[in-house]
Amino acid sequence: MSKRVFLKTIGCQMNVYDSERMLSTLQDLGYESVSSAEAADLIIINTCAIRAKAEQKLYSFIGRLADLKQKKPAIRIGIAGCVAQQEGKALLQKAPCVDFVFGTHAIGRLDEIVRSVETGAERILDTAMNGIPNDDFRYVHRLNADSLVTRFVTIMTGCDNYCAYCVVPYVRGRETSREPGRIIEEIRLLVEHGVREITLLGQNVNSYGNKERYCSFAELLRRIASIEGLSRMRFTTSHPKDLSEELIEAFSELPKLAHHIHLPVQAGSDVVLKRMNRKYSRSAYLDKVGRLRKLCPDIAITTDIIVGFPGETESQFQETLSLMQEVGYDAVFAFQYSDRPDTPSSVFPNKIDGAVKAERLSRVLELQKSMTMKKHQALIGSLQEVLVEGLSRRTVLADPSVTQWTGRSSGNHIVHFSVPNSEAPKDLTGTLRPVRITRSFSHSLWGEPEEGA
Ligand code: SAH
Ligand code: SF4
Ligand code: F3S
Repeated sequence: MSKRVFLKTIGCQMNVYDSERMLSTLQDLGYESVSSAEAADLIIINTCAIRAKAEQKLYSFIGRLADLKQKKPAIRIGIAGCVAQQEGKALLQKAPCVDFVFGTHAIGRLDEIVRSVETGAERILDTAMNGIPNDDFRYVHRLNADSLVTRFVTIMTGCDNYCAYCVVPYVRGRETSREPGRIIEEIRLLVEHGVREITLLGQNVNSYGNKERYCSFAELLRRIASIEGLSRMRFTTSHPKDLSEELIEAFSELPKLAHHIHLPVQAGSDVVLKRMNRKYSRSAYLDKVGRLRKLCPDIAITTDIIVGFPGETESQFQETLSLMQEVGYDAVFAFQYSDRPDTPSSVFPNKIDGAVKAERLSRVLELQKSMTMKKHQALIGSLQEVLVEGLSRRTVLADPSVTQWTGRSSGNHIVHFSVPNSEAPKDLTGTLRPVRITRSFSHSLWGEPEEGA
């Protein structure tokens, strides 16, 4: 009988990518992936430490697993990812049901770890940081054909920016880039397997290759763009301080580069930005937004915002609201400031009360909601190139005479459209379709395929 693993992923796209590689290692060891902890022999949780809430998710799940282990003592439980790296030994002490803890640099050693766990060895702790990103992409061969249109590829790990609030430099280690040749090889292989769009991942892709003296990030994009069969590329995240003119120009130069940039601003006040150690000013940020819009007028811009950073006054917070209005974001991911262990801001004075943070967060979300609606309405009548991801999971418009498809526009908006059932059935998954937008909703758009679609 084959062994069964349940892998739960909490956190960002990098964790999604790492989990994929873990799963492929486990499959090599004879494990089959199952979708519930109850059905598994081995349970691994890939964790996130970015905010207290993400960490709480882990502890509540561990509570459930402790009960499960009482009933099924033979199950083995492992904790991976950023909380594993941060807590290390303390996690083994806090959670007696956990058999092994392995950090963000130990993914390449997972096979040895699991082999020892299987032989009933003692509890294992591996949080050594060797500084070499795991570059193994054997996982590609195991991808199943249903989830193949879009994929993440991590091009660099770690971060050297030390924003005052952020735990990433401590849990992911120093910024390290992968070799361009290896990245291209991986993407080529993905494309051979049917992938049409890739999102390149890094905490600050703008400084890709600087330390290693590889090519610039814009050059890497040019090389990736030449891969035949790849339809579109995206990237995240781009730190505003390092957004180069060369990269801005890439948006007008490279037809495969999606017209979307995620440019986290965090706050609108220079005083707050300085105390966050972000190393750019409000006006420098706005200048870069202006350059992007000049060279790529339809570019969609999204951002991250932290409300209630220690010492943030009401008027400083209002500068965040006014900046949102000035930029006119397509989407905003907003968070209440959360104290993280070892970060400079965790010992800053004048922490903001929870109720005030909650109130500021709801003001940001409220403002963005109305701006997103306006943005979506403004797209009515426009022609969007949609990369079809598959059949719509839910029926958007009740009409049994059509088949409904879903994909994303270059600006990353979700677009639904329909094809009459009277036409010869065709699988549109993975194709690019011109779609004229006719209706807007709060989270998506609706359109009609144009001639030739
Ligand atoms: N490298 C990216 C951010 C990665 S973390 C960048 O610099 O843009 C994703 C987001 O989580 C951050 O942009 C920030 O908005 C949020 N975040 C990070 N630490 C946080 C904290 N301590 N409290 C609240 N939000 C936080
Ligand atoms: Fe964290 Fe700042 Fe690095 Fe982003 S750039 S991961 S916010 S330290
Ligand atoms: Fe979380 Fe680690 Fe990503 S802290 S946001 S999973 S890099």
